[in-house]
Amino acid sequence: MSTTKIKTRINGKQIESEVEPRKLLVHFLREDLGLTGTHIGCDTSNCGACTVLVDGKAIKSCTMLAVQADGKEVTSIEGISKDDELHPLQKAFLEKHGLQCGYCTSGMILTSLWLLRKNKNPTEEEIRKSLSGNLCRCTGYQRIVESVMYGAQLMIEKEAEEHEMVMR
Ligand code: FES
Ligand code: FES
Repeated sequence: MSTTKIKTRINGKQIESEVEPRKLLVHFLREDLGLTGTHIGCDTSNCGACTVLVDGKAIKSCTMLAVQADGKEVTSIEGISKDDELHPLQKAFLEKHGLQCGYCTSGMILTSLWLLRKNKNPTEEEIRKSLSGNLCRCTGYQRIVESVMYGAQLMIEKEAEEHEMVMR
């Protein structure tokens, strides 16, 4: 079995690995690195449960080979909280009941994070459009959209707090 050496930055850590050229990024994250918060919900690239950020952009990790992540920065759900503190979007999903079984949640959160970094205060329509590639079998989406709207507000507040601390 031939392998290829790749160097990637995963959740802020530089990693060097030998991977089979045909291995998908989602399998590399889950099986080789144990980052099982990235889920596999289909084999048709439709569900979005496997979404991660690659160089800041939301990508379905079942549509990319691990070797294509060489030289790139990958963020999975495990990489967005700081120390023991949940990311504002994670808090928002928890508080607004944006999940039931939670299978789709990491993908929903990472897709939403990509949106909120580009657009701090999106409309409901913009959130729904952005999440159109992420499927949820449980919630009916309304609570997910409410969670993203609340998460946007929490992210703005957190940014203001951090700015104030720097200015002190
Ligand atoms: S597992 Fe990647 S889109 Fe469904
Ligand atoms: S919360 Fe169950 S699939 Fe979305």
